[in-house]
Amino acid sequence: MIAEPTVGRLASRTVRSWTADATTAPADAVLEVADLVLEIDTDRGPIRPVCGVSLTVPAGSTLGLVGESGCGKTLTCLAAADLLPSNVRAVRGEIRLLDMRRALDTGARCADDDRRRLAWRRRLAMVFQNPLAALNPVRTVGWQVMEAFRVRTGASRRAARIEALGLLERVGIPDPRSRMRAYPHELSGGMSQRVMIAMALAGNPRLLIADEATTALDVTVQAQIVDLMRELQAELDTAVLFVTHDLGLVAEVADTVAVMYAGTVVETGPTRVVFDRPAHPYTAGLLRCAPRLDRDVVRLDPIDGSVPAPTAERQGCAFAPRCPRASARCTTSAVSRQARGSAHVVACHHPMPT
Ligand SMILES: Nc1ncnc2c1ncn2[C@@H]1O[C@H](COP(=O)(O)OP(=O)(O)O)[C@@H](O)[C@H]1O
Ligand code: SF4
Ligand SMILES: [Mg+2]
Repeated sequence: MIAEPTVGRLASRTVRSWTADATTAPADAVLEVADLVLEIDTDRGPIRPVCGVSLTVPAGSTLGLVGESGCGKTLTCLAAADLLPSNVRAVRGEIRLLDMRRALDTGARCADDDRRRLAWRRRLAMVFQNPLAALNPVRTVGWQVMEAFRVRTGASRRAARIEALGLLERVGIPDPRSRMRAYPHELSGGMSQRVMIAMALAGNPRLLIADEATTALDVTVQAQIVDLMRELQAELDTAVLFVTHDLGLVAEVADTVAVMYAGTVVETGPTRVVFDRPAHPYTAGLLRCAPRLDRDVVRLDPIDGSVPAPTAERQGCAFAPRCPRASARCTTSAVSRQARGSAHVVACHHPMPT
């Protein structure tokens, strides 16, 4: 898997139960995460940064995953990609990726884990925020794209070279033949991210996870990379899980959106519906502090306070200390999800009025 060197190897004692292949995923969903819980060992004791995340990436479309830094977006993606860091002590939940299903627990290892893991990783690819850190500095660009293709497909070097050239050309690298011989430090940030996308697309994965993939780029290059990803998605029919804290970007690229706060998804639905009529006070707060080109905004209103540090135990709603609608009930009773309309779901005791 391309992204593996940047995040470390999966702990051998976690994420064990790979249930049988060919369980039937709904035809309209590429990825389904159900009630994902992660516990991590830290110097200050165990924390639970992901506590019951459920989300769906529909086929051929883009799900935007948004929320402030520290909400658990990256860990959720790493769990989906089977790339959790080694200090994860416990995982629960279930993940479906196309025709494969993984029940996550800390049980015994099964005999053909490695085969199933490889099959899983062939179905998806991940692109990170910092392409230069993700690329191997001592290997040429060509070698890295070829290797990504060979790992996924088992192709010969000759076939991989032809494929790598085609991929570099497809992602808009000028003069791909000579760029094959370049090293990562010889490329700009935008070009490096194009190389990462070429590597991600090698072998034609069905799901692309882009975790803040455009955040480190300047605005013009960011727009080019977003355009490229949209073109590729339309051309290859790849589903995309697009992670960002930039709501403007989500409005532009995502068909549906999932808003995360303190390790849970607090609101999800079609992007236009959620952005026009947010039901969760956190979503409404995020939108109030996001600049919008289509509205005359006199001043942007940041949400007071910050995301709470993840702890092992929590009572009531994690957003209560920052929420203008909080009541006594919010600090004591667990919040459950409720439908707000077709495909629009919110987890809040006192949602925003319609
Ligand atoms: N390997 C790790 N060890 C300890 N804490 C971690 C680790 N990875 C993430 N965290 C903590 O978990 C929380 C969620 O992290 P992350 O998923 O990276 O959030 P986001 O991507 O939304 O910014 C943060 O508080 C982060 O510090
Ligand atoms: S449950 Fe209560 S505290 Fe939490 S977001 Fe809703 S109103 Fe605010
Ligand atoms: Mg992150």
